[in-house]
Amino acid sequence: MPLTTLKVQQVRNLADVRFTPSPHINIVYGANGSGKSSLLEAIHILGLTRSFRTNKLRHLISSGAEQCLVFAELDAMATGTTQALGVERNLEGVSRMRYAGADIDLTTLAELLPIQVINSETFQILEGSPSIRRAFIDWGVFHTDPMFIRLWRGFKRVLKQRNSLLKYGKIDPSMRQIWDRELVTYSVQLNSLREDYLALLKPEFDQVLAGLLPNLEIELGFSCGWDQKRGLDEVLADNLVRDRKQGFTSAGPQRADLRVKADGHNAAERLSRGQKKIVVSALKLAQGALFYKLNSRACVYLIDDLPSELDDHHCRLFCQYLEKSSNQCFITCVDKTTLSEFWSQETQVSFHEIHQGEFITQDQEIL
Ligand SMILES: Nc1ncnc2c1ncn2[C@@H]1O[C@H](COP(=O)(O)OP(=O)(O)OP(=O)(O)O)[C@@H](O)[C@H]1O
Ligand SMILES: [Mg+2]
Repeated sequence: MPLTTLKVQQVRNLADVRFTPSPHINIVYGANGSGKSSLLEAIHILGLTRSFRTNKLRHLISSGAEQCLVFAELDAMATGTTQALGVERNLEGVSRMRYAGADIDLTTLAELLPIQVINSETFQILEGSPSIRRAFIDWGVFHTDPMFIRLWRGFKRVLKQRNSLLKYGKIDPSMRQIWDRELVTYSVQLNSLREDYLALLKPEFDQVLAGLLPNLEIELGFSCGWDQKRGLDEVLADNLVRDRKQGFTSAGPQRADLRVKADGHNAAERLSRGQKKIVVSALKLAQGALFYKLNSRACVYLIDDLPSELDDHHCRLFCQYLEKSSNQCFITCVDKTTLSEFWSQETQVSFHEIHQGEFITQDQEIL
């Protein structure tokens, strides 16, 4: 599963970087602006063709270059054989993805390389809009149930059609009933996948959180996007006048949300910055733990500036969790010493120093 070689060309200030990562813990350290987050971004491109920082390719691709390339060898499906995976993006927006010598599509790519990011943006799971929390849930559902992507696409198509009829058309009642029926069918199925996934995730989350932040009660709740006591068909019919006025469908899985409560209060309002970091990290780590349980495959974790916001005690607990997991981790920090102390003797930790876009050392250390 882990990436065994990595080559990055023309991603921000990384003109041409090649290195051999550890299958377990990789620490990338260097001064501000040296290229640490860019390296994580490059690995993210390899798994999803896009950055986690920008949608604009001209920012992502090195100034003066036309395209960027990220390449790795990995045994994606844990079959015992490594294969080459490459993703190329150019300024025109064209993506080229190849695995084991054949072109692949984005869905296949995402399946091959399950990636989790923990960075300052991850706070948005608590502080941001419901769409971020839906994306969080749907990452898990996508990787758990092969039905998801077909249902999701079908649902989006029908919702778009209904919204456009609400906005521009005079809906003939029989037409509306047909669209509504289809929308309800997709919605109910999609919702049940989300509920099933969250039921599996909750115990994993409780367990991860108990290790990282003992003594904090966090409760996860889910609202599906409509009043379930009434059923979506009834809700759609009741909301029709309002939906017409607004020009969009106001109830359904497109309004689902994950509620995170600390001691009975909204966690975004209640928790300290460090506590928030641990809670959102625990959510992400729980997804990786569940993914491993269900698929016997590990995730690649991109953890930008792990020590930020955390005191030594919590940083150590975080590292102890990572070393017990099977995930391949790429962890950045400015100063090597902030993450040198926290690993047990047996853990294989590779330290990679980066300076102005180039790797200057690689120490494979058993600490
Ligand atoms: N399109 C681009 N082409 C070339 N260089 C770029 C491009 N975009 C950003 N850079 C530069 O790449 C460098 C690396 O940025 P990056 O965010 O990876 O640094 P970092 O090591 O994570 O720093 P920090 O510790 O401050 O987070 C910066 O100096 C930045 O100005
Ligand atoms: Mg950075």
